[in-house]
Amino acid sequence: MIAKETIINKFKSLYPGDPIVVSSPGRINIIGEHTDYNDGFVLPAAIDKAIYVAVSKRADDNIVLYAEDYQESHEVSLADIAISEKHWPNYILGVVDQFQKRGSTLGGFNLYIDGDVPLGAGLSSSAAVECAVTLALSELFGLHVAQIDIPQIAQKAEHTYAGVMCGIMDQFASAFGKEKNVIKLDCRSLGFEYVPLELKGYEVVLLNSNVKHSLASTAYNTRRQQCEQASEWVRAKYPDVKNLRDVTIKMLDELVKDKDEDIYAKASFVVRENERVENSCAALRSGDMVQLGQYIFQSHEGLSKVYEVSCPELDYLVDYVRQFPEVIGARMMGGGFGGCTINIVQEGVLPALLPALEKEYQHKFGKELSVIPVKIANGTQVL
Ligand code: GLA
Repeated sequence: MIAKETIINKFKSLYPGDPIVVSSPGRINIIGEHTDYNDGFVLPAAIDKAIYVAVSKRADDNIVLYAEDYQESHEVSLADIAISEKHWPNYILGVVDQFQKRGSTLGGFNLYIDGDVPLGAGLSSSAAVECAVTLALSELFGLHVAQIDIPQIAQKAEHTYAGVMCGIMDQFASAFGKEKNVIKLDCRSLGFEYVPLELKGYEVVLLNSNVKHSLASTAYNTRRQQCEQASEWVRAKYPDVKNLRDVTIKMLDELVKDKDEDIYAKASFVVRENERVENSCAALRSGDMVQLGQYIFQSHEGLSKVYEVSCPELDYLVDYVRQFPEVIGARMMGGGFGGCTINIVQEGVLPALLPALEKEYQHKFGKELSVIPVKIANGTQVL
């Protein structure tokens, strides 16, 4: 957590006047990976690591940005908003662009951004930036953006300015997070319910592989296209099918298997992962942690072997912890190709397991392994 005063003091060292300060958290996801852009179900939660944005109005029409992480500024006039080669400004400019497309009247502004969501760790720092900026600009210019619009504006900013055709999970979790709860989200209707995360003697532990990923340069967008292709083939016979949310394995057997084995495999992973979210929710509600853990292991198996979005480091981390009965579930988390694994571990046993794992990981991959402690927290808010 970064104190509001720290953000305000840094803001004031750069710009005149008093800012509005907004925070928006990163997220974890218990289960339901690569289901969101197929209109399926997910089970994420916001965490106590956030992006902080401070904004104030300017007299002219310029946008002046400063990013603490990069120790760098960026300036552009409202009329000339465009994708920047610097990369980091795009998560902010993409939101400005969305407001302009909606016909909202913005003026020039100064913005300072900092945060403690580890970058490239699969904790959705980019969604947190987009949601924070959406609420900050809404407050600054009196735009009265409804809470349900925050993740949708933020997601479009990611599509257009970051080039990742993501689903809505990350932005939704950041905007709607609630302390001590996971969010069971229907990514089609955006209907959701909070499910208390009561782990009954277990805890959530994130292990950061320190393999940094940028989804824009991975197979993320390709996977999305493969899923769309599968549902298109099914739709030819079943016109009510919008996307994989509406598809069964039987339909895939009938209409996709013979056309393309690979697309068949990818689509069947999504159908099964959706079922796992439902089943995991039931396990969580009935307090059956061991069963929940089994679904989490199965999810990893599918993500790694069938959907093929894991990497050797993530596979190693999951395989390693599996040998300990105290670890009842583990899988890669988020888009994949790097970032963290999420582990459900008996409370208090981690310190005994960690030293040997850290050593072996370093030896095998020449990389440091880090533990990211997280608590479940509230969503996007004005501080
Ligand atoms: C990334 C995307 C999300 C989601 C996950 C995979 O985090 O931003 O929309 O698709 O990958 O579940």
